[in-house]
Amino acid sequence: MTVLVFGGNGQVGQELLRALAPLGEVIATTRSGALPDGSACEVADFDQPGSLPALLDRLRPSRVVNAAACTAVDRAEQEPEAAYRANAQAPGVIARWCAARGAPLVHYSTDYVFDGRGTRPYLPGDATAPLGVYGRSKRDGEEAVRVAGGRHLIFRTAWVHAAHGHNFLRTMLRLGAERDELRVVADQIGTPTPAALIADATARALRHPGGLSGTWHLTASGQTSWHGFAEEIFRQALAAGMIERAPRVTPITTAEYPTPVRRPAYSRLDTSSLETDFGIELPDWRDGVGKVLRELAQR
Ligand SMILES: NC(=O)c1ccc[n+]([C@@H]2O[C@H](COP(=O)([O-])OP(=O)(O)OC[C@H]3O[C@@H](n4cnc5c(N)ncnc54)[C@H](OP(=O)(O)O)[C@@H]3O)[C@@H](O)[C@H]2O)c1
Repeated sequence: MTVLVFGGNGQVGQELLRALAPLGEVIATTRSGALPDGSACEVADFDQPGSLPALLDRLRPSRVVNAAACTAVDRAEQEPEAAYRANAQAPGVIARWCAARGAPLVHYSTDYVFDGRGTRPYLPGDATAPLGVYGRSKRDGEEAVRVAGGRHLIFRTAWVHAAHGHNFLRTMLRLGAERDELRVVADQIGTPTPAALIADATARALRHPGGLSGTWHLTASGQTSWHGFAEEIFRQALAAGMIERAPRVTPITTAEYPTPVRRPAYSRLDTSSLETDFGIELPDWRDGVGKVLRELAQR
């Protein structure tokens, strides 16, 4: 099996290179042609979707995993064309190539396809209603993958964090070392999900013999607010001796922390179909916080 991973230097992409290695040959792409450890890899630029079929023709992967995306939620409002190119057009091009060659495609999407007005965890089939350009571009990317007509596995995930990359956990640790108090939004509910869990579940799904195609929700278990997430990060970091003191974490409302684009107030995703269809157990989100902190401590 030859697996091509787009976005090999992102949070999920880096974990995929580890998790997919036992499946066969794994080929990574990045925009620059280099991986974070400095080694060379293939170049794929989602700003040039038309360049992707030639790359795929040359590499001829038997499986494709797309972890590349324009994930800057607020910047997408200022640069909508770039967001649509990376999140919708490029996945569509890849999906059509995969459909024509019979190569299964794994593609990731987001809880931001929902408007957050729900009162129970969102099911994969619930109506989407994104609040901004990022969510709309990701929703259009999902649709482009579906209409291409090949075997696809779309995994919607949320609140991704890892010991590397740009994420809330690392930002909290950095700010917590600089300030006595952090004010963190307490009225947005979701599920922090480690990139390693997403990658491990992807490996399991690709090994699954069923040949399933469709859309699943892939997050850790449970739910919290950004404020609860921050408190847990500092609680565990303190208990592990990674920090000497934790800042005071003050709960605030979304209205007190305005951002260019509104976030869904409630975006917990129902993962039961993923657990049933692939036999995957999803640990509590607090376990993921512990694992990521341990990895950071080892560095
Ligand atoms: N982060 C979250 O909280 C979150 C939440 C829900 C869903 N998701 C979804 O999960 C998937 C993985 O996200 P992640 O957190 O791993 O994202 P990430 O850490 O931001 O990584 C994104 C990757 O996409 C690449 N990329 C961005 N624009 C590109 C372009 N024009 N051409 C080629 N590559 C480009 C980046 O490369 P460069 O390093 O060169 O920029 C990077 O490798 C995405 O589909 C995302 O939408 C993420």
